[in-house]
Amino acid sequence: MILAPRQREHILPLPVVLISTLSEDGVRNIAPWSNITPILRPLDDILLASWIKRDTLDNIRKTGEFVVNVPPVRMVEAVMICSKNFPPEVDEFEQAGLEPRPSRKVKVPGVEGCLAWAECTLVEEISRKHYSLVIGKVVHLEANDDFFNEAGEMDFERATPLTVMLGEKGMWFTRPVFAGRYASYAEMFLSGQNGG
Ligand SMILES: Cc1cc2nc3c(=O)[nH]c(=O)nc-3n(C[C@H](O)[C@H](O)[C@H](O)COP(=O)(O)O)c2cc1C
Repeated sequence: MILAPRQREHILPLPVVLISTLSEDGVRNIAPWSNITPILRPLDDILLASWIKRDTLDNIRKTGEFVVNVPPVRMVEAVMICSKNFPPEVDEFEQAGLEPRPSRKVKVPGVEGCLAWAECTLVEEISRKHYSLVIGKVVHLEANDDFFNEAGEMDFERATPLTVMLGEKGMWFTRPVFAGRYASYAEMFLSGQNGG
């Protein structure tokens, strides 16, 4: 089967996070986001791609801050409420019935009930005609103790982080399950030692 290049999303499982931001006037905004990735490891930069017409992008530009919240599967209905194109003056915590969670290093609140919270500051925006790439730095990272061990590893089958496969007319919400193989990073090196 040959797919059109624009159908690339049909072949890639994507994460689903909630990005919380504040407007200049302090209006609280939440939007689901899938075009988001850590930049390599073990760095602390994070990259997200945004269409130009997004309150999230406007808010990040104006305040220089955002929080990446990792929602569990049970938040999927709230995720879809936050995806609606509410005008900028609407408080999306209220619309989605979500509780704010005070952040440590940024003014923007996180979303209570999520699995983890990455507080970020804007490093750089790379503007294209129709979209922007936003590079942020994670300045504070916290996770829900109930689903993480002390090494910071998620028990993902209990935590149920939300993922998505995009289809032609809609989205199939999914979640990760263990594929039966654990590999140490050292296995990637012929020397058997972790080079980074
Ligand atoms: C699962 C999911 C993933 C999404 N990922 C993105 C994304 O990566 N980039 C983007 O610009 N919009 C994305 N959207 C759309 C925005 O969430 C949606 O347009 C939202 O209303 C934007 O809100 P805002 O204007 O308050 O920022 C996604 C929507 C859903 C449901």
